[in-house]
Amino acid sequence: MFSSRVPHDLAANRLSTLVKAVRAEGRPLIDLTVTNPTHVGFQYPDDLLAPLADARALRYDPEPLGRIDAREAVARDYERQGIRIDANRIVLTASTSEAYSTLFKLLAAAGDEVLVPRPSYPLFEHLTRLDLASVRTYDLEYHGCWSIDIASVERAIASRTRALLLVSPNNPTGSFVTREELLRVTALCAPRNIAIIADEVFADYELEPGRAADAGRAATANRALSFSLGGLSKSAGLPQVKLGWIAVSGPDALAAPAMERLELICDTYLSVSTPVQVAAAALLTAGADIRSQILARIRANYRALQSAVAAVSSCRLLRSDGGWSAVLQVPSLESEEDLAIRLVGDGVLVQPGYFFDFPRESFLVVSLITPPSEFANGIDRVLRHFDCSTVLP
Ligand SMILES: Cc1ncc(COP(=O)(O)O)c(C=O)c1O
Repeated sequence: MFSSRVPHDLAANRLSTLVKAVRAEGRPLIDLTVTNPTHVGFQYPDDLLAPLADARALRYDPEPLGRIDAREAVARDYERQGIRIDANRIVLTASTSEAYSTLFKLLAAAGDEVLVPRPSYPLFEHLTRLDLASVRTYDLEYHGCWSIDIASVERAIASRTRALLLVSPNNPTGSFVTREELLRVTALCAPRNIAIIADEVFADYELEPGRAADAGRAATANRALSFSLGGLSKSAGLPQVKLGWIAVSGPDALAAPAMERLELICDTYLSVSTPVQVAAAALLTAGADIRSQILARIRANYRALQSAVAAVSSCRLLRSDGGWSAVLQVPSLESEEDLAIRLVGDGVLVQPGYFFDFPRESFLVVSLITPPSEFANGIDRVLRHFDCSTVLP
């Protein structure tokens, strides 16, 4: 009865089942996997969402690509990051996830392929499948910092490749795509009519000074048809508001017909509410305060993590240049899943690397937006497992 777009096996994995049981019993669990900024103690002003009640939103005038004033506000936000983009080349969506779906509809027919980085965000497999596209991976390699294995991109390109996804900074590796990498990837994609989709939702969150300035931004790539994705969910810590965007760039001969087709797709759903479009400019401005709270938190937690891990010789913190997560490499004494389950028994929840398709074990991913004292306590519990000088009870 049901389509194969949705997986047949919907059973929860061992770790999720255990976590559910621990929570149902009310046992304390330090959550180092939290990615919801509204749950971790940031100070959101009480009236932050007042612009959603603007009376201009009482009138409905459907605009498939979004109201021009909201698109101009997004263009100004790119300007804040040093990128000039015409508001007419911006498309509003309800979220970045929806932006992906819109772009897969634009670029891929059933069975066409999208190249995604590995390791990366696990939602890509699911998002492509829902739109009948297939995923092929290319590799990110770690050698003191992460970089794109360009040879693996070349190997992954096939006759049905329609798009290549870049995530910058990537979740969970924290690596920005450099200018040089963007140029090399563009040189491979442009002659083959492969579009570039660059997920830049974490672009504001730089951990290592200078990395964001050195990043290649898709909106400046003029050889290949390129789509840069962003949204209030991460840039202003407001996932519940539901506003994302796509900035379209590249040769006019491709960008103009892409805009016409995007208009048709967006007109079919008209999913972005009028109140959020009316409020967009105010929310983008007010979001700066939340963004700086998040930035201060992730930097402080990352520094604390660097010194905690430095004291445990068997563990290594992989370099993270930006984003909300950090990756620990730990001894492979058992499977990542068994380790994560054992850590839950010790009152701390982390994400095992295989969730993000790390090519081998053992990696643990932790969220840097966790409240600082919980973060320190949780990391301490994780590291105790590997510290030979600690006698476990
Ligand atoms: C890399 C990346 N892209 C997109 C999203 C989803 O963003 P949105 O809430 O705008 O759909 C996430 C959420 O964690 C993410 O990590």
